Amino acid sequence: MLVFIAQDYAELSREAARVVARAIRRQPDLRLGLASGSTQVGMYQELVRMHREEALDFSRVVTFNLDEYVGLPAEHPQSFHSFMFRNFFDHVNVPKKQIHIPDGSLRGNFKETCAQYEEAIRRAGGIDLQTLGIGKDGHIGFNEPASSLASRTRVKTLTRRTIRDNRAGFASGEEPPRAAITMGIGTILEARRILLLGSGAGKARAVALAVEGPLTASVTASALQLHGDATFLVDRDAAATLRHKEYYQIALEMTRKLTPGRLW
Ligand code: GLP
Repeated sequence: MLVFIAQDYAELSREAARVVARAIRRQPDLRLGLASGSTQVGMYQELVRMHREEALDFSRVVTFNLDEYVGLPAEHPQSFHSFMFRNFFDHVNVPKKQIHIPDGSLRGNFKETCAQYEEAIRRAGGIDLQTLGIGKDGHIGFNEPASSLASRTRVKTLTRRTIRDNRAGFASGEEPPRAAITMGIGTILEARRILLLGSGAGKARAVALAVEGPLTASVTASALQLHGDATFLVDRDAAATLRHKEYYQIALEMTRKLTPGRLW
């Protein structure tokens, strides 16, 4: 794993967008895994700017979102579907037919919906670059503690903490969803490259456990230790309790020197 420590959220967002843009320029039909959550917003803004000012072209990019709440119609302002259009898809040129977001509306048969999602990823040839956020309990996607490290896309029950953390934006008196469809850890680990973003002191513990703690289903981001090409891109606050910060910096510089073709 590589750990890139940015000075602040602005640098983290620019760096994340640069990685994604470079991947698209190198492979215009990139299969790109996307995440929602406030941490990703700066990266999306920067990608939108690059689309407008630097002709970054998304016309052949195929996207797969990590997760979606169960029980919210896509049009609900707090659905991840709405989040993605508001923050990204409405401002760039990914054709609608190339956008995949799990369907969390109560209509479908979830088992089938999840199997179809996995099948769509497979048919597209797998995910080339998966971007991730991290929950305060160390989850990726909505893979809450005790998720199987081999899990595939499925419905997960959310912890009380996650429900509370994600409450902002729901009207007072409105019950936030208590379950979500999420890619599994096994699904995420099949992506060819992984870029996890973590920002702010509230994520420091989760980041330290994921990078330096034991591999455990209790902190599902620690499963990235099994991946051959995963990078944690974190700001100083989120990196605050990492023990080997200086080493990560040296290792990153060395990796860049020895493998100039890398995305970062
Ligand atoms: C949700 C999402 C995660 C995301 C997390 C953190 O739980 N399912 O994918 O990483 O929120 O969100 P934020 O970036 O807002 O802290």
